[in-house]
Order: sequence, then structure tokens, then C-alpha cells
Amino acid sequence: MSTRIDDNPVIKQALPTIKDRSGRTVGSEELELLREVIESGTLAYIYGDKVRRFEQEFVGLMGAESAVAVSSGTAALHTAVIYLDPDPGDEILVSPLTDMGTVIPILYQQAVPVFVDVDPETQNMDPEKMEECITDRTRAVLVTHLHGIPADMDPILEVARRHGLFVIEDAAQAHLAEYHGGFVGSLGNLGCFSLQQSKHITTGDGGMVISSEDRRFGRELRLCFDKGWPRQNPVRDHLFLAPNYHMTELQAAVGLAQLGKYGPALEARRRSGRQLLEKLAGCDPVTPLRTYPDTSSVFFAYVFRLNLDMLGADGASIVAALHGEGLPCELGYPGEIPLYLYPMIRERKTFGTSGWPFDSPAARKRWRYEPGLCPVAERACRETVVIPWNEGLASEHVDLIHRAVVKVVDHFRK
Ligand SMILES: Cc1ncc(COP(=O)(O)O)c(C=O)c1O
Repeated sequence: MSTRIDDNPVIKQALPTIKDRSGRTVGSEELELLREVIESGTLAYIYGDKVRRFEQEFVGLMGAESAVAVSSGTAALHTAVIYLDPDPGDEILVSPLTDMGTVIPILYQQAVPVFVDVDPETQNMDPEKMEECITDRTRAVLVTHLHGIPADMDPILEVARRHGLFVIEDAAQAHLAEYHGGFVGSLGNLGCFSLQQSKHITTGDGGMVISSEDRRFGRELRLCFDKGWPRQNPVRDHLFLAPNYHMTELQAAVGLAQLGKYGPALEARRRSGRQLLEKLAGCDPVTPLRTYPDTSSVFFAYVFRLNLDMLGADGASIVAALHGEGLPCELGYPGEIPLYLYPMIRERKTFGTSGWPFDSPAARKRWRYEPGLCPVAERACRETVVIPWNEGLASEHVDLIHRAVVKVVDHFRK
């Protein structure tokens, strides 16, 4: 929805977007490597070397021992959950504010997502709320670093260690974000990344899992997305249930070229993000999300909370007015409700009419998700503005975004 304050919107031209080259750095380097793949005639990863090279170079940057490349961020997370190999009905802690791709893998493995409320200032999982969600069925915690801002990993790892939980990091939106001297994704047991079009580098769709401890559960990570098939064995075999989530050589060619662009892309996102932080510093009705001390954001999005009392309006009206000023933005993330209130989960639209895993006889109880489950997250969805960010945003765009936000805030401010 869009509403106009007047006939003179601040932003009259489209801002750079991740949807095309205005906000993405893709060009001759990618083309050259793609040409190599096409000319070789080897498009599949099992016969080529581009995916292997992409994995090695990626993990070299991230600070783990090994990496496996897959077809999406959701596939990366699913690979991680397959590696963990939960029993049906086992429980996995997760944030209610993340992409549905974080939860889908849990459901496909017949495990149950247990939603831990968030810290109101960072909107990442609140470590203080974890303990009350842990039972004798809890196997793991899946931590999302939302909007490019690291979750508070030290206390999360501490609770996980005390309860023997496996830690999967969802760094889909936080490539190379730093937390206390390390990169997110390398702090837990497995780190998962998305390489979809909007991410810090992209292969169109794609994903990566990084690890420093292959075979912890007696299964090799690579088999978890390759039909459980140890291809090096002379006789064909399938050791356990697993899908095919291969990345192709074509995607890896693009990915290899994109690796060279991480530095400038992150620098550009950080520069413009910090500029807007400075410009909006005195604007009381909007508060940016906080980053914990000794951590840094990589600005997947620019996100601020609205003080609705000061503004005397609801979030939807503010966002509609921002749209009226020409600013693309959303109310809340993943939307105006947290994940557990979407029909897939709340109405158990999973496997036929079974209602599994929520109603599975293997679960500890019948799982139901109602409003009020995570009040901080629910409120965040109603009071948060998410502006998509990208490396094409320059100072003049930041000026326009700043002016649009101030105009709308001044219009509503009581
Ligand atoms: C936090 C988070 N987790 C998981 C995913 C899933 O990644 P993909 O869309 O590549 O499957 C995304 C993608 O947007 C994401 O932002």
C-alpha cells in the first residue's frame, strides 16, 4: 500500500536494487568463468572442478576447515539438519524472526521447531529465553544472524554447551559479519549461507555449509545432500536418506568470480549503512537495531524500530507513507507476523492431513502455535521498518532515503 503526504515525493527515481545490475556487481569476470564451463562441456559438479574450487576458496575466507556447496540457503540448512540426524519429534530451537527457509529443513526431518523469543534491540534470538525452551528432546539450536547483525553467540554457545546442544548458524544474511574477532558461521558446529540474488555475493540461487568437524554424527556432510551416496566406493551404495542438492558448475563459476567482489560489496554496504545511521541519529521516533559490542553488521538490510506512541500511527500507515515517498521498504521481518503464525506452521500444512511433525506420535506433545507465544517478536513485526540494502547505494541515495524518512516522521510526529 502507498499513501501520499503531498504531490512531491522525495524519491522520484528508482533506487538501486538487488534485482538487477543497479545493485549487483556481476559482469565480465563471471562471463569469463562461465565461458570456461560451457566450453569444457562439464556442467555437473561431480565431474568438474569449479564447485570444489569455490568450496575451498569460500571456506578459506570464512575460517572453518571444510565447505560443501549446495543449491540454496534452505538446502544448506537442510543438509545441516540431515547431518544432525534428529529422531522424529526431536526439538530444535529457532528464532521466530527469520526466513521460512530456516524452519522448512527442521520440518522435513520431522523435527519440531521451538521458537525462542528475541532480544527487542537486536531482534536476534535472546539467549536468556533459551533455557526455558529446552527439554530432554532438544537436540540443537539453529541461530539466525538477522539483517546482517550477529546474534549474541557467546551466551548462546554457553547454554548450548551446558545442555549438549548442536549449534547450527544461519548466516544467510550475514556473510563475513564479525563477532568477537571471528566470522559468523564459523562459531558454532556448522555454518550455513545463502547465495540467492539478494545476498552479499550471489550465484542467483545457491548455498554453502561450512564445518570444522566432519563426521561428528558418523555421516559425511557431503553425503547429506547427495542421496547418501559415497561416490568414491566401487559399488553403488546409499547409506541413508538424503536429497540431491548439488550446485552446478555454472553457479560455481559465477560464485568464484563473485568471491573477488566480497571486499568492495561489504565495504559499500557498510559505508552507506553507517551514513544513514549517522544521519538518522537525532531522529527520536526511529531507533536502529543495535549491534552487540565488538561485533559488526554487514547491512543485509537497514532496519529501524518505530516509536509508535511518538508517531501516533500504526506501522502500516508509516510504511505506506514511506512507499508514497518512493522508498521501497517492508513492515516487519519476515512480515507483519512471526513465522509460527504463517499457515504452514499454525495450521500444520505439512504432510497430507497428518499434521506431522506437530501431531506426530513421536513428538512429546501436540504442538500448537498461537499469538502471544513470542510477544517481543510479535511486537517487532508491527513496529519495525526494513529497507532492503545493496552495494549500489551511494551517498546521494542515502540522502534521499534520509529525507524520505524524516519527512514521514515529521508528518506523523505528534
Ligand atoms: C536468514 C535466512 N535463512 C535462510 C534463507 C534461505 O535461503 P534461500 O532463499 O537461499 O533458500 C534465507 C534467504 O533469504 C534467509 O534470509
